[in-house]
Amino acid sequence: MSIGADAAAAAMQAAERITTLIEAAIGERGLAAVCLTGGSTPAPLYALLADPAHPWRARVHWPGVHLFWSDERHVPADDPDSNYGMARRTLIDQVPIPTPHVHQIRGDRQDPHDAAREYALLLPDTFDVMLLGLGADAHIASIFPGSPLLAGAGGGHAHGARVAAVWAEHLEEWRITLAPPAILNARALVLFVTGAAKADAVHAALEAPADLARYPAQLLRDAGDRTEWFLDNAAAARLSVTLDLPY
Ligand code: 6PG
Repeated sequence: MSIGADAAAAAMQAAERITTLIEAAIGERGLAAVCLTGGSTPAPLYALLADPAHPWRARVHWPGVHLFWSDERHVPADDPDSNYGMARRTLIDQVPIPTPHVHQIRGDRQDPHDAAREYALLLPDTFDVMLLGLGADAHIASIFPGSPLLAGAGGGHAHGARVAAVWAEHLEEWRITLAPPAILNARALVLFVTGAAKADAVHAALEAPADLARYPAQLLRDAGDRTEWFLDNAAAARLSVTLDLPY
């Protein structure tokens, strides 16, 4: 676990780790299958990875990177809510990544189930890097509290669909999301979470008694030490044990 003094420091720690994981994957297998997350938290992290003023952009062999997403909203790419659109503006348009390596979820499909089916065909067997955010309600990807995708989870996740279209009742919108099996078998899972609004969710994910239906991020316990948390002090505030790493 890494804890930065603030969100900017945490983003630098995460950028360093993600870059190292990408370098290792390309060195070992010739390519890196990287799954990005959505929401607003990772925007500065993507911008850092693309920034020529920092070391990470030059260290990554971008033609070897394949990009995927853990979830998407049911909107076109140019909608402000599009996870793909956010990554395109902050990262993809800024680095020499080949267009065929960008495997977006087609949130513009009229039927989100079509988007899920199409996306499932694009997925690698295993992601090298699974970057995830955390909702204040402890959701990851679009696996929300009470999600049917959690049924049967906690006991293997070996079978079942890897992508699902889900109706998020509380948001009144469709989401297309990776299901637990596709998330949990990643070689490395990087959680990037900042801000005081996430402190309860971080605690719930890491330290609360098991209650998967209420705290979907507890799924990550199944991935053991393949999960690495990058937090700022505010997000880590409710943890009982913390380790401050100066950057
Ligand atoms: C999404 C996500 C989601 C996100 C959290 C945190 O599409 O919304 O991928 O799981 O990581 O909701 O979002 P924020 O960073 O906006 O708080």
